[in-house]
Order: sequence, then structure tokens, then C-alpha cells
Amino acid sequence: MCGIIGYVGGRPCREILLRGLERLEYRGYDSAGISTLDPDGTIHAVRAVGNIAALRAAIASRVPVGAAGLDDEDHAGGDGLLGIGHTRWATHGRVSQANAHPHSDTTDRVHIVLNGIVENHLELRAQLTAEGADFTSETDAEVVAHLIAHHYEGDLVAAARHAYDQLEGHYAFAVMAADQPEQLVAMRKECPLIVGLADHGSFVASSVSAFLEHTDRVLEVQDGETAVLTRSGARLLAAGSGRPVIRRTTTLDWDLEAAEKGGYDTFLAKEIDEQADAVAQTLAGRLDADVALFDGLTLEHEHLQVLQRVRIVACGTSYHSGLVGRHLIESWARVPVEVEIASEYRYREPVIEHDELVLGITQSGETADTLGAMRLAAGRGATVLAITNVMGSQATREADGVLFTRAGIEISVAATKTFTSQVAALAAFALALGRARGTLDPERAGALAAQLQHLPQLLAQTVAATDAPVRELARALSDEPLFVFLGRHAGNPVAMEGALKLKEITYRPAEAFAAGELKHGPIALIAPGTPVLCVATSSPVRGKLLTNMAEVQARGARVIAITDEAGDPALGDAEVVAIPRTDDPLLQSLLAVVPLQLLAHHMASQLGLNVDQPRNLAKTVTVE
Ligand code: G6P
Repeated sequence: MCGIIGYVGGRPCREILLRGLERLEYRGYDSAGISTLDPDGTIHAVRAVGNIAALRAAIASRVPVGAAGLDDEDHAGGDGLLGIGHTRWATHGRVSQANAHPHSDTTDRVHIVLNGIVENHLELRAQLTAEGADFTSETDAEVVAHLIAHHYEGDLVAAARHAYDQLEGHYAFAVMAADQPEQLVAMRKECPLIVGLADHGSFVASSVSAFLEHTDRVLEVQDGETAVLTRSGARLLAAGSGRPVIRRTTTLDWDLEAAEKGGYDTFLAKEIDEQADAVAQTLAGRLDADVALFDGLTLEHEHLQVLQRVRIVACGTSYHSGLVGRHLIESWARVPVEVEIASEYRYREPVIEHDELVLGITQSGETADTLGAMRLAAGRGATVLAITNVMGSQATREADGVLFTRAGIEISVAATKTFTSQVAALAAFALALGRARGTLDPERAGALAAQLQHLPQLLAQTVAATDAPVRELARALSDEPLFVFLGRHAGNPVAMEGALKLKEITYRPAEAFAAGELKHGPIALIAPGTPVLCVATSSPVRGKLLTNMAEVQARGARVIAITDEAGDPALGDAEVVAIPRTDDPLLQSLLAVVPLQLLAHHMASQLGLNVDQPRNLAKTVTVE
């Protein structure tokens, strides 16, 4: 986890780094820091426990009034033209100022920021200590600063490459040296790192969001390559040989506004509202027969016709979208689907058939366990595909083919629009598969495509129809100590996603159950007044779900039904949150996720919690 940024250019860098870090806060916000280089070779480092606001406060308390307005030609006092920054999600070492990045060597000549884990850090620490290095933190990252300094004899590139060869694990780092005012060096191994080229300087960061306001021109960095950044550009040196790499820059289609809140109180509110657009983007041009869905791989009709199994691997919200995807693929394309929690799958010696299709679903494209599961399957000969939202992410590099969700950047830690977009991508895939295998006749396929086309409009209507009533509901429920979510069929993963959202951002105990399992234990949780949120949308098993609702109602539960059949007398005394109607039961259940997302959002806001940065969580989990 963690976010890193580096800049070298023609502008004072302190504010550039701080703003970049604010855009990387979704990667972690336990502590933060920056190091900047003055023209006289002094490195200024400021580190603080907490988020970037805390870092700003720490800087403000050090900078004398008026210093921020120093003559541009001067750039003195910690606002030079080169610097690095970091926002941390702790892995090694507790959250403290000493463990915050940047880290430096004993002589303070070399400063680094690092994202990831150095697995052999204890061994290296012992060696470096024996040679006189003086460690001031518990982190694995500090080892890298000392190691690069150990190899540094005026050539920062050589020193970084030398150190890289000794490091085990997965990480990305950016390094600066006191006597190198013109140069930043960065390297990566299985952790995200991307170079941005602006007209006033060069950037390196964990994600493009860090520098999107300066440039949309990026250069991908591969594992083992060295990125050497200067004011006028960046060059890449090949892994191993160190020869120059010729690589074209890419122009991104994300704009800065997309990375801003755009008038909403929280990113989460904005992203819930953006679901209609996100899903429209996901589906655009992908609902026609014979369209090639996956970049990089053409799935041959013959292959699809004999396909024996689809196996989905994912974590968190992406796992839930996979569970909805199972219904879509099995129902429309009649292929057996297994959905696996990636961290479990990868360590249980799974039987992997050569002809199965493994689908890694990962918003970020960087989740360690999902990547691990994809690698395992690829290593045993399976075709591995990825559904992801992030161009250039690790999953896109490793998969045989990629289906981009095109939902736009998602900042809030709790995933919303990427969930609905993933389900939409899976629906497009199921439709294509059903057509190829002949399990959907042209008429049914056309009808499903039409319903999918209509989905964005229905999502927009669902947000509009449910926002106000759910805000009231959140107020009424905010003191409850326990929430139960029930669903059946495709409504079950939607209930699971609703419970996850509530847990993530309100910290309230919330459990989801397949309603048919109620009597096998969970019903014991129900006490008078326990709120039970039911995904009671039209489906082949709606009648059975209504029976389960009646059972908890009979035990005094406060039942809230999310339904497209608000007038149905069978709902009894349940409070109703009405959502629009669509014909397909699978897509119908998806609409029900919107009020559940809103419930979590409104309750967390009303409780005064940090909606976009819930405690202990990070958006991108690049560690196991
Ligand atoms: C973290 C995030 C979740 C996300 C999960 C999987 O736990 O907080 O919101 O669902 O990782 O992330 P991925 O990027 O692989 O979809």
C-alpha cells in the first residue's frame, strides 16, 4: 500500500508534492512526509503522523510567516525544485513519526520513499548496521535508504540499481540525493509506479491521480527498469542490461475534474451518483454480437463453445461483483462458474484445468491476493483474464486479456461505481458468451442487450428516488448496534455488499445472510427492533424471501424491504424503499445496491465519520 510521488522540474515543489499526496491519500493515511532539495544541497524533510492535513500543519508550524512567498528565483527553505513525498499505510513498524517516510541514510545524503514490502529487510539491516549504519525507524524502507547510500559514489542510478538487485519482496521506490539537484531515480517490482511528463517537469508516482492536474502524458515503468527523471523529461533503462528503453508515452483519458469532488461533500456521494455514467461507459460498444470484449485477446468462438468452467478470483467488493457475475454467466451462458476469495484460493492447492477461464476482478488491478491467484492459474496453464478499472495496472500486464470497466477514477475507499461497473462488465461478458455458445437465442440476447442499455437510466432514477428516504432511514437507524442484511439468489451478494459498505464506513456490526440460511443459526441474532434490510426485488425466489421476512418480523425485527413492488400487500408491515423496475431479475437485484450504498454513506456522514477515508482501511491492498 502507501502512495509515493516525486517531482523534478522548474517549479517550487512543496505544494506540488502536497497536492499530489492528497490525491494519493486513498492508498493510506497513517502518516505522511516530504523531502525537498534546496539549491545549496540541503534536504528538508518534514514528517507527520496522520493524513496530509496533519503534514500541512507540521510544515506550517516550521515555515516562518511569509516564507511561502519566497522569491521564485530563490526556492530556498524547503521549497526547491526537486522532492519526494509519501503517504503511508503501515505494514512494518507502528504508526509513528519516526516510521513515516521519507527515510534517509546516516549521513542524510540519500532520501527515499517506498511503497510495498522488502522481505529480506532484517538481514540487510543487520549487515548495514555492522557496517556502521545508524537506523532510526523500524521500517523496511529505511533499509533501502541505507543500502542505496552504501552503494552511492556519485552515480545515483548505479546505486539504486545495485540496491534493487539485493532487495527481495515487492516494492516501488523513488530516491533523491543531496548532490543531485537535477535527477530523481525510481524503480519498481510488482508495485505500481508511473511516470508523468509535464511541460514544467517530470513526475513519478504510485498513481496518475497524483499528477493529473499537471499532465495526462504518462510513461509506463516495467519491473526492474530504472526511471531517471530530469526537469526536461524522463528516460528508462532496461532491467539487467541498463540499456535505454524506447517506449512511447500514453495519453490518458482521465481529466482532473474526475479526480475532484465536483461540488459533492464526499467522493463517495459523487461516486454513488456517477454510477449511471460509469455503467454507460462500461457498456459502450460492448453489447453488439461478436464484439471483441477483451483487449489483448480474441476469444475464439470454438473455444467458448467448449468452455468447461469460468473461475472468478477477487477480494472485497470485487468478490461480491463476481458472485453476481456467477448468476449472470450461469444463467445466460450456461457455463459453470466458481467464485473464489483470492486469498483462500491461492493457498489451498486448487485443481486448475487447462481449459478453464480464470477471471481476476480487481478495481485497482493491484490487489496482492488477486494477482497471486491469477499468477497461480496462469502458471498452471489457464487462460487468465482481468476485469479492472485502472489502465497500466499490474493485472493488465499479467493477464492474457483485459476488460476495462472505464468507470473513471474512484477515490473513496469504499467501492461503489466500480462495483456496478464490474457487474455491468460481467453482464456484457455473459451476454457475449451466451451468444457464442448459442444459449441465448438472438431474440433473448437482443432483449437483454436492450435492458442493459437501459440500466444507466435506471441507476440514475434509483439514486434520485432513494436518496431522500434513505437519508431519513439512516437517521432513524443510526443508534442501532447491529444490522442484518438478507437476500436470496442474485440478491444475496447484493445484501453482502450492503453489509460490507455499512461495516466499512460506519463501523457498525452488519452481517449478511442468504435468507434461506436464517433458520440454521442467524435468526438467533434477531431481537425486538433489530433492523433487517431485505433485498426483496422481483426474482424467481421472491416468495420465499417474503416468507423469511415474515419470520424475522414475527420475532420483532424492524424489516426494511428494498423492492420494485412497493404496493405488494405481501410485504406486510415492512418499511419500503421503492426502486424502479426492470424485467431481468438479475439486473433488478443490482439496482438494490444503490439504496444500501446510500444508507452507509448517510449514516456515516450523520455520525460525523470520515466517509472517504474510513479507519484502518486502504483502497488498494498491495500486501497480503
Ligand atoms: C480493499 C478496498 C475494497 C476493495 C478490495 C479489493 O479492501 O478497500 O474496497 O473491494 O480492496 O480491491 P480491488 O482493487 O482488487 O477491487
